[in-house]
Amino acid sequence: MCGIVGVVSNKNVNEKLFNGLSNLEYRGYDSVGMCFINGGKFSIKKGVGKLEEVHKKVNFLKLNGNIGLGHCRWSTHGGVTEKNAHPHVDCKNKISVVHNGIIENYSELKDELTKKGHKFYSQTDTEVIAHLIEENLEGNKVEEALRAALKKVEGSYALGILFADEPGKLFAARNESPLIIGLGKNENFIASDVPSILSYTNKIVYLEDKEIAVLTNDGFDVFDLNGKEKRKKVHTIHWSKESSQKSGYKHFMLKEIYEQPRAIADTLNERIVNNSIIFEKEFALSDDFLKKIKRIVIVACGTSWHAALVGEFMFEELAKIPTEVEYASEFRYRHALLDKNTLVIAISQSGETADTIAALKEAKKYGVKTLSICNVIGSSITRISHDIIYTRAGPEIGVASTKAFTTQLAVLYLLTILLSKIRKTLNEKQIKDMIEGIRKIPLQLQSVLDEDDEILECAELYYNKLNSLYLGRGINFPIALEGALKLKEVSYIHAEGYPAAEMKHGPIALIDKNMPVVVIAPHDIYTYKKVLGNIEEVKARGGIIIAIATVGDKEVKKRAKHVIYIPKNLYTLSSILAIVPLQLLAYHIADKLGRDVDRPRSLAKSVTVE
Ligand code: G6P
Repeated sequence: MCGIVGVVSNKNVNEKLFNGLSNLEYRGYDSVGMCFINGGKFSIKKGVGKLEEVHKKVNFLKLNGNIGLGHCRWSTHGGVTEKNAHPHVDCKNKISVVHNGIIENYSELKDELTKKGHKFYSQTDTEVIAHLIEENLEGNKVEEALRAALKKVEGSYALGILFADEPGKLFAARNESPLIIGLGKNENFIASDVPSILSYTNKIVYLEDKEIAVLTNDGFDVFDLNGKEKRKKVHTIHWSKESSQKSGYKHFMLKEIYEQPRAIADTLNERIVNNSIIFEKEFALSDDFLKKIKRIVIVACGTSWHAALVGEFMFEELAKIPTEVEYASEFRYRHALLDKNTLVIAISQSGETADTIAALKEAKKYGVKTLSICNVIGSSITRISHDIIYTRAGPEIGVASTKAFTTQLAVLYLLTILLSKIRKTLNEKQIKDMIEGIRKIPLQLQSVLDEDDEILECAELYYNKLNSLYLGRGINFPIALEGALKLKEVSYIHAEGYPAAEMKHGPIALIDKNMPVVVIAPHDIYTYKKVLGNIEEVKARGGIIIAIATVGDKEVKKRAKHVIYIPKNLYTLSSILAIVPLQLLAYHIADKLGRDVDRPRSLAKSVTVE
């Protein structure tokens, strides 16, 4: 996935580059590197490990220059070695490249370039770009060489490029990997995401596929691959600087868990007017179309896919629309049956997940309407889909998604109300109850957070267990999946999420006195009593039961070893409340185990490769 940052300024950019890179570390932390231009030469330092570790060895802050590039790597091609760390340079050490993405034809290009005498030092796909530009530089201006090189490249790339002989220009290009331009005062930036440079600017330009940007300290130009100049819109991002900092919390994940009451309140803000739901102008689907749709297909990955499962439950149960949820990575390669009465919804925090982007593009081939639910304004997914509803979680930095998930659930809930109203599947009283229910959520979430000490106690008791099982039913089956995913991601403990009754078809064989079993058992008219039965089954086998129950519940208490209570609300909202203790449980267990919570091994926040 990799993180890229670059700065060109009229003063030393060293510290800004270092800070930008440290904000991007969640994207990859196998190795890290920086490059500056000084007196027509590159000064490059790089190494294997996280930024702090490499910094201790090489002292990045000793590098100086008014222009520089930084990169943190999540390896795809070539092992985790210093040679494979970016930046990569050409044979003459005049072109320096950092890259995020995958060059699919790199092997052919490498063979061709090797035959022409180019010497390669790494096993990466990235290095071919430096040599390819070098090959095209003969008799050409750098811009021409860059265009000629990129026309030969197949695959995805976000590139930052420096030419030692052009010390006032920072070059960038993108195709299917995220890259933005940030506009400052006497300085301009490129970066993989907005939060990494938010301390310096909130004026952002989004690069589109196959665009090349040339930045100087006082301006920027964007061209297509034929050299035609493109007019670009400057967006102002209204995220505060503090939102991309830890603000006293030990980890971003903890901060983001605690931000959920505020994030949900923001997501609801001004969208509930009397008894109606009104989304902003990016959502322009007509009532007529929403009345007519016969089917919804939701595509997503990871945590967003779990949100989609909750959405499926709500759309079918309340709006009575048949709904299917697909892994974006699967959907993109099969020939789904879509017609003009299908609405395809993509859910993505980052808006940059490669598979979700590809799934949306695939859906559009069928001429269907597409709607994205996304957290990042202006991200790729929002530019591809016809309509958008933004979650307003603010920047999410911790790799394990938390506040993005609950705000996705809130948006899906609002959308369900809208659909149910238009399609008249719920009456005014039911709509009113739903609205009252969601309005209570920010305060209720606060009361769940207030139980953190008890959750910490559970973590202290069980952090050394090797396996665990998460059980839930109905709308809380996806919460079991998400709770298990959170634990796996940040603690590396094996955890499985299962529909509670389905446990009898396999996982029950694993239950013994060493197995914590987390059961989501809110009081409801659907399956509550059945779940009580499932708890008994776990208990009979000696499993350690940690239950999530509705405040005042006595039955669960009689059966479970530990109970974390969530407030009373509508059943459809129990999922937003139930996930929070599970996020905290995963966090505390990982922290007790001394894991790098915000940067779990092998994971990245935004998976921009297939
Ligand atoms: C990665 C992240 C997850 C996220 C998933 C989908 O795996 O680590 O936290 O849920 O990608 O990302 P998206 O940005 O599309 O929601």
